[in-house]
Amino acid sequence: MRVDIVSIFPEYLAPLDLSLIGKARANGTLRLAVHDLRTWTHDVHRTVDDTPYGGGPGMVMRPEPWGEALDSLAPAEVPPPHLVVPAPTGVPFTQALAHELAAAPHLLFACGRYEGIDQRVLDHAATRMPVTEVSLGDYVLFGGEVAVLVILEAVTRLLPGVLGNAGSLEDESHAHGLLEAPMYTKPATWRGLDVPEVLRSGDHGRIARWRRDAALTRTALRRPDLLAALDLGTLDKRDMVA
Ligand code: ADE
Repeated sequence: MRVDIVSIFPEYLAPLDLSLIGKARANGTLRLAVHDLRTWTHDVHRTVDDTPYGGGPGMVMRPEPWGEALDSLAPAEVPPPHLVVPAPTGVPFTQALAHELAAAPHLLFACGRYEGIDQRVLDHAATRMPVTEVSLGDYVLFGGEVAVLVILEAVTRLLPGVLGNAGSLEDESHAHGLLEAPMYTKPATWRGLDVPEVLRSGDHGRIARWRRDAALTRTALRRPDLLAALDLGTLDKRDMVA
């Protein structure tokens, strides 16, 4: 997968050299480049923002540098990149969206700052490529950079060959619309707390049942919205008891 990120703070993206994303870059699974938006400014102050039309506090990112950046990073090509713009006004970022983005051959991230990017940049880009404004949640960050780190981590771990054990993806939280059951490792007793007996029983049927019940209970308590959205066809008779 090719990934381009445009930001006025390229240094914010330095962690992309680390850990499994760094490894995916080193082995070519991820061809990632970070670009400074100011490369596409032409004035001595390298200006990227201005006051909002209609008034109000804060500054808005001017369209010209963004237009040139997108022209340069998304030249007429088939298929075009998927433009992802982190913003609190976007659609919620979910595991389903992570899967959708992981299927794209080329992602282009535009990191806004201040009060955001002039809307015409996104409207114009949408005539040439898929554009998705994505929100991490109902809170406001200073800018899109940290959101890109989050989105890219969720996407990269879905790429074939990135996770050592692909089985990790199968039962994790959100894989089936539920939160994952609690996990334990050795020692069996720690500070007087025992690992649930069933997990040490070796009985795979009972273990699967226990994990399913724990996932349902945890989801009901913490995320009733997920439980309400669950496809009832995925429930079995024993689940109704949980
Ligand atoms: N930029 C600012 N706030 C954001 C949020 N909640 N999600 C994604 N990008 C953002």
